[in-house]
Amino acid sequence: MTEKLVLTGLTKRYGNHLAVDGLELQVKEGDFISFLGPSGSGKTTVLNMIAGLVEPTSGGIMIDGVDLTHQPANQRNIGLVFQNYALFPHLTVSGNIAFPLEVRGHPPETIGQKVEETLRLVKLEGFGERLPSELSGGQQQRVALARAIVFEPSLLLLDEPLGALDRRLRESLRQELRSLQRATGITTIMVTHDQEEALTMSDQVLVMAGGRAEQIGSPEDLYQRPRNRFVAEFMGSSNIVAGTSLTKDGKTFLQIGKAAVPRNGEAASDGRAMQFAVRPDAVGFDADGLGPSSLVGTVVGSEFCGEYYRLHIETDDLGVLASHIRTNTPPAIGTQGVLTWSAADMHQLSDDG
Ligand SMILES: Nc1ncnc2c1ncn2[C@@H]1O[C@H](COP(=O)(O)OP(=O)(O)O)[C@@H](O)[C@H]1O
Ligand SMILES: [Mg+2]
Repeated sequence: MTEKLVLTGLTKRYGNHLAVDGLELQVKEGDFISFLGPSGSGKTTVLNMIAGLVEPTSGGIMIDGVDLTHQPANQRNIGLVFQNYALFPHLTVSGNIAFPLEVRGHPPETIGQKVEETLRLVKLEGFGERLPSELSGGQQQRVALARAIVFEPSLLLLDEPLGALDRRLRESLRQELRSLQRATGITTIMVTHDQEEALTMSDQVLVMAGGRAEQIGSPEDLYQRPRNRFVAEFMGSSNIVAGTSLTKDGKTFLQIGKAAVPRNGEAASDGRAMQFAVRPDAVGFDADGLGPSSLVGTVVGSEFCGEYYRLHIETDDLGVLASHIRTNTPPAIGTQGVLTWSAADMHQLSDDG
């Protein structure tokens, strides 16, 4: 099967600033993929290059096997939604949705029917005669979405589409958006800086930093197997555990200050720096287990999170680590104890982040 979208060495330079640096990406037909990264990491620039709104400095863009790198935007058949609705204020909802069909020269008879169908799809039946100013923010964003999909684009690009909405609306709209995308099967790329949004909505997530791809993978991959420290920290999911390799009696350990913690993974010469990600739900805290080579910490914070308590445990060598424990009686602030986890829960990170 040919890929829907292929980016090869896609690069954008503004003066001597590299906004996007040699991006490689393949997107399968029907997939929902998110570009996730901090502000300024180049997400919008990539999207705008795909849309034809920004000219790449070098590299290529193929859609359905056709090289579109230098095609004008209006010949790419791409639907676009931005954070700020950008509806035509003087046109009704129906007028806004009909617009892309009119520009493409669809016959008037079919336009009305197509607009009605799309209004139903975005759950705005009966709103056709209103003006955008007579709609809520969420409804306006649904109209923008309808306008972007009504002409059956080959690709849908969304730039922070839920960014201007309040939290509750965002959460309900993201599920709606995803089921609409599934129902239509339109290959979709969404830009977001919200890791929860990316994880809950996407088939694949591309994590960007400084114009480069840090990692691409399924939400589960990124969450459980971050490639490097940047991804682990950005996903907000993990403790970073750094130390040096130690081998004793044929077993491998991670030496962290005075503590020696059993580890799995590749053998390494003694003293080699290594870092691992350990998720808070894998970290236990044992107030009675103090021993000479155990990793010791002091509880400095405790938050009730419903299903579990989130403990903040201060250590000498690793700063404050998080531990999620299921208990009715969390240890008091100031309690000293041992941090415990199994070697299998340590996920090794590469050194490049
Ligand atoms: N038209 C432009 N001229 C100069 N620099 C730009 C322009 N557009 C974006 N940039 C720079 O490129 C980088 C990436 O921007 P952008 O793609 O908007 O990031 P993001 O969407 O991830 O926040 C930023 O450093 C930004 O300042
Ligand atoms: Mg942006």
